[in-house]
Amino acid sequence: MRHAVDNVLDRIDVDDAMRRAIAATAGTYPHPNPRVGAVILDASGNVVSIGAHARKGEPHAEPLAIGGDTYHDHTMVVTLEPCNHVGSTPPCTEAIIAAGIRNVIVGVTDPDARVSGRGIDRLKEAGVSVSVGHLADEVEANDPSYFHHRRTGRALVTLKVASTLDGQTAAADGTSRWITGEEAREDVHRLRAAHDAVLVGSGTVIADDPELTVRLDGYRGPQPRPVVLAGRRELPKEARILERDPIVYHSSSVPDVEDVLTDLPRHGVLSVLVEAGPTIARAFVDAKAVDRLVWYVGGKLAGGTGYPAVAGVFDTIGSAIRISIEDVERLGNDLRITATVGER
Ligand SMILES: NC(=O)c1ccc[n+]([C@@H]2O[C@H](COP(=O)([O-])OP(=O)(O)OC[C@H]3O[C@@H](n4cnc5c(N)ncnc54)[C@H](OP(=O)(O)O)[C@@H]3O)[C@@H](O)[C@H]2O)c1
Repeated sequence: MRHAVDNVLDRIDVDDAMRRAIAATAGTYPHPNPRVGAVILDASGNVVSIGAHARKGEPHAEPLAIGGDTYHDHTMVVTLEPCNHVGSTPPCTEAIIAAGIRNVIVGVTDPDARVSGRGIDRLKEAGVSVSVGHLADEVEANDPSYFHHRRTGRALVTLKVASTLDGQTAAADGTSRWITGEEAREDVHRLRAAHDAVLVGSGTVIADDPELTVRLDGYRGPQPRPVVLAGRRELPKEARILERDPIVYHSSSVPDVEDVLTDLPRHGVLSVLVEAGPTIARAFVDAKAVDRLVWYVGGKLAGGTGYPAVAGVFDTIGSAIRISIEDVERLGNDLRITATVGER
């Protein structure tokens, strides 16, 4: 017996099931693959199984939820369109069809060029009822860098800066520890944990010798991959970052930001936190490569000029770049401002 998907939508709480599918992806690190969760419900709308894709190379959410069983009058609610191609695992569409699932409710169509509607077409062709576009914003917010990369070809960039209230990121002698207090610094570690990689320029490696690791109590997730934009100078051989298998971009001039952002996904990096010194901050702003700005304003006045947050000369008011502030939070005696960067 065939059920039209609209009847299924009446019988089950789709939003609740989609949120359970999203929640199933907590603690998964599948990049460069997407974070996908799938839930199977029986005819009365009870959840009978849940799966999530944990890591690249491991089974996808749909076959994990199916678990080798066959189903008769069941619905699958899945955050992303099921794949229809052979990668390191077989196509999920075939697993769904073979399991006898008659209804599939999809959060978002997969923007990956290898899928992009073909998974949905294949399911329909096999007589499966499909409904697409449920809690799409929540699904995308659960894995923004995946959608960004598949649509633009670039890694998603968060530019992080910590400055004094009067805009200085380091003193004239290069010292910068610490411009912000403990709470803000702990927040930076959470920010690192939320990204696949952390990028610095060679100037910061030479001045600060940073490790760029996540150091949070109880943290068990992966460490972000260090990335260094190393221009013309040699990196110090004893730099601590070199022990962490960094991706290093060297160039006889300076590495092109756009090239770096299209190359990083080839290393599995879809999101990168740029912990910029002023030179690299400038390069990313000029390349219009900042998707999100996270600015920690330390409760300090430099009281003079050391290293500015963004290098260059502020020659006329018209050259200021407009930002849109999305969030302001107080962290101890510091502020965290989250913004997007607009045009000059
Ligand atoms: N407060 C903060 O949030 C914060 C964060 C990081 C750093 N800092 C401070 O910033 C200071 C270092 O500043 P910085 O400007 O020298 O460091 P930086 O921005 O980290 O590194 C600049 C260097 O990156 C290299 N580079 C590679 N690709 C580039 C590109 N596309 N465009 C431009 N440069 C490129 C160049 O090296 P070559 O010269 O070899 O060509 C350049 O000199 C330190 O005192 C550090 O403490 C502060």
